[in-house]
Parts: sequence; structure tokens; C-alpha cells
Amino acid sequence: MPEFSEAPARSRGRSLRAGYQRGSGLQFGDLVRQLRQDKLYNKATELAQELTILPEQKRMNLYLILRFGFDELAFGHITEFGVYRGGSALFMAAVCRELHPGVNVYAFDTFEGMPATDPQRDAHRENDFKDPGYEELLGLIKKEKIDNLHLIRGLFEETAEDTLKTVGSVRLNHVDCDIYSAVSYSYDVSRKHMVDGGYWVFDDPLCSTCIGAMEAVEEALIQRDGRFAEQVYPHLVYRNWPPT
Ligand SMILES: C[S@@+](CC[C@H](N)C(=O)[O-])C[C@H]1O[C@@H](n2cnc3c(N)ncnc32)[C@H](O)[C@@H]1O
Repeated sequence: MPEFSEAPARSRGRSLRAGYQRGSGLQFGDLVRQLRQDKLYNKATELAQELTILPEQKRMNLYLILRFGFDELAFGHITEFGVYRGGSALFMAAVCRELHPGVNVYAFDTFEGMPATDPQRDAHRENDFKDPGYEELLGLIKKEKIDNLHLIRGLFEETAEDTLKTVGSVRLNHVDCDIYSAVSYSYDVSRKHMVDGGYWVFDDPLCSTCIGAMEAVEEALIQRDGRFAEQVYPHLVYRNWPPT
């Protein structure tokens, strides 16, 4: 991989240069080809790709943030809201095991599918993603010794607040839970734990089946907190900065 540097200049809390480098590099440039030859990216992908519904570019962007956008921040862990069969959480844990020893990934899900959804806002319905797989995922974590990945089973609304009290600081929150209530909650519960400059990556708002996720982002991040996106492709990325 060539040098890929995080520019310090910020505008409204974002590093637009970094957002452009990652986003346009993946959409129009040479980054996909280069990353397909990256040893660590490939190693983590091999472990995770059968267990994730994340498209390749989104996985690549998480990798770019972890590799080039993480070290400049104060210490903090990673949270993921919406784990399903575990692929994106495994991927981030495998990358951090090599690049950021001491960083843990806390992965929240019912592991029994979607809770009740709001039919006015969400296209997803209760029990979507209800596949068996939790025990298999635990087995894989043990077999591959992914000791920095912790599964937190249950509704976010019942598990996250207490877990985050022990986690402390967060540098990256990957929000991949599709529905209005869950996206909204996952952002709010993480706010006071996020380090300055920390990343919220929203997987779903630009997906045609997740308008409820978009509404949560519009309402909480844009209207209420006055945040502006750093990146819109392949997913929405926001940074923590005092709201404008
Ligand atoms: C799209 S899947 C996650 C995909 C996963 N990140 C991957 O790599 O394939 C969304 C997940 O969000 C979970 N979810 C949504 N709302 C939740 C809530 N309130 N509490 C716990 N889990 C929730 C569902 O159970 C589902 O497994």
C-alpha cells in the first residue's frame, strides 16, 4: 500500500481530505485494487467474509480507518451495534489484533434477530436475521483465539449502557442495525464515550431498505447535534467534535 496520510486540517470537525481519499479512492480510484493485495486486509477478510453481509468496499473502508485514521486519536475501543453472524466484528478484531494491541471490539446483538420494528419507518420486520449461529461464532472466536472480540447478547437497550460504563472510551462505533430505534439508540448511548475525533460509521442509511436508519441520522446527528458527514461512500462517516 502506498503512503496514505490522515490530514490534520479539519472543517466542522471533519477531515474532508481523509474522507475524500478513502471515499473517492474506493469509488473511482485505485484503492480497491491495492487493498486486494494487502496482506493484513486479506488475512482478516479470509476469517470474516463468509460470516458478513457487508460488501467489500465497506470492509475496506473500515480497514482504512483502522490503519490510517486511528493512531492519531486518544486511546479507545471499538463498538459494533448489529453483529448478525459476526463477520464485520471478526474483521475489525482481526485487524486490531495486529495493528492496535489492547483495543477490544465489543459487539452487541440479540443474536436472535431483529426486535420489533416501526412499520411506519422501517422496511425490516421483527425476527429478520434470525439465524442460528451464535454458538458457532463463539466456537470460531475460541478456535482462532480472537481474544479481543467480546459478544454482548441481548437488546442494545438492555445491555449497552452498563457495558459501556466498563468499556470507557470508544474510538470507532460501527452502527449496522438497520432500523430507526436501534440506530438512534446506538448513536446516543455511545456519544459520551466517544473520544475527540472518534468515528461513527453508519452502514445503513444510504441503503434502500433502511430509510428508518436515515431518519435516525438526520434527526440526531444533523438536526439535533449539527454534525456534517466526513464521507458518504461506501457508508456514512461522522466524527466526534463539539457540535457546531
Ligand atoms: C444487518 S445485521 C448486522 C450485519 C453484520 N454487521 C455483518 O457483518 O453482516 C443487523 C443486526 O442488528 C441486530 N439488531 C437490530 N436492532 C437491535 C437491538 N435493538 N438490539 C440488539 N440487536 C439488534 C439484529 O439482530 C441483526 O443481527
